[in-house]
Amino acid sequence: MTKSVLAVSALALCVAGAAHAGPEAEVLHWWTSGGEAKSVAVLQEEFAANGGTWTDMPVAGGGGDAAMQALRARVLSGNAPTAVQLKGPAIQEWYEEGVLADITAVAEAEGWADVLPASIAGHMQCDGTWCAAPVNVHRVDWIWANADVLEANGIAMPTTWEEFNAAAAQLQEAGIIPLAHGGQAWQDATVFEAVALGILGADGFRKAFVELDEETLTSPEMVAVFDQMRTMRGFVDPNFPGRDWNLATAMVMNGEAAFQIMGDWAKGEFLAAGKTPGEDFLCASTPGEGFLYNVDSFAMFAVDGEDKQEGQALLAELIVGENFQEVFNLNKGSIPARTDVALDAFDSCALLSAADMSASSESGSLLPSYAHGMALRGAQSGAITDVVTQHFNSDMSSEEAVQQLAAAVANSL
Ligand code: GAL
Repeated sequence: MTKSVLAVSALALCVAGAAHAGPEAEVLHWWTSGGEAKSVAVLQEEFAANGGTWTDMPVAGGGGDAAMQALRARVLSGNAPTAVQLKGPAIQEWYEEGVLADITAVAEAEGWADVLPASIAGHMQCDGTWCAAPVNVHRVDWIWANADVLEANGIAMPTTWEEFNAAAAQLQEAGIIPLAHGGQAWQDATVFEAVALGILGADGFRKAFVELDEETLTSPEMVAVFDQMRTMRGFVDPNFPGRDWNLATAMVMNGEAAFQIMGDWAKGEFLAAGKTPGEDFLCASTPGEGFLYNVDSFAMFAVDGEDKQEGQALLAELIVGENFQEVFNLNKGSIPARTDVALDAFDSCALLSAADMSASSESGSLLPSYAHGMALRGAQSGAITDVVTQHFNSDMSSEEAVQQLAAAVANSL
């Protein structure tokens, strides 16, 4: 090589070096509560430790409805974020719009197919390519309780809905709010699907909320589900409208309320507040068989720029990495998506979740959460939630609710 060629190459390297700032990511997510923020900080720290520059785009609002609206606005304006908290069939919906990046190279290099259960991997793949990276497995069908409040009132964790109703009536009599609830559509849907799993059973749940079977949607059992929702409406305090889920969890923490029905991100709140499971708070699956799973994941959006693309590859690698899967999930209240992460450091609620997940997987009662966007596309789950929340917030009869449910689903197809 001549001297001048060398000089030009050196210059080119310098210029490239100056323009190449290293991995970058703008990350859109809705993890803004105490436990959630502590959890996502683990990813930010790992990304920074690996040379990445993180631009945070948090959009507050439990369940992610506001975040998904913000995402649509960004994509429509041609300025998609590099990485987005996205899950379930919504991943496929965005893939079909042709806006997702392909992360197959990372998935193959990291051997994701060998460490993820097939049921989880299926949600992360689009037409045979990898289009999202899973973070965890949250269970939705949980009931949380203040341990002292139950003990002081001689109440055990309910194992049937009848026991729950009897305990709640007794607590109400004693001046305690039986059920901490936030009147937001997604929270109504969360309680509703836990009740539905208990009353319909796993097969009935699948027929109703995966297969959208009309007979099941209008069955006497579904009427009973709405009856139980009406009963539970009587167990929430008058200030419930609009309340955020983490404020409802705080009511259980401070003994103002006895129970909350919520996914195990609620455990993340208890833990972030320094509470101990089995001592300060209790966890149990809601009455009935089965397990409703909610797998958080991140999808990468197609963007230009080497720094951003490197950032996407680094994020994807870290997210499914063993260390992140352990530390993040210890904070978040969920369990790792990877099957090869040791659970030694996890608490009794997490161990119960892991055991129930594998038992329900074997018995065929491991089911996707409809309320958290794992079972249905947005149009269908939205149609169901509209009816659930209208019923909860009015004096609509259960018979009317099931008719509306079937009609709303039919219209959404
Ligand atoms: C869920 C999400 C959880 C948790 C919750 C409340 O949809 O999967 O990670 O953050 O919303 O915001």
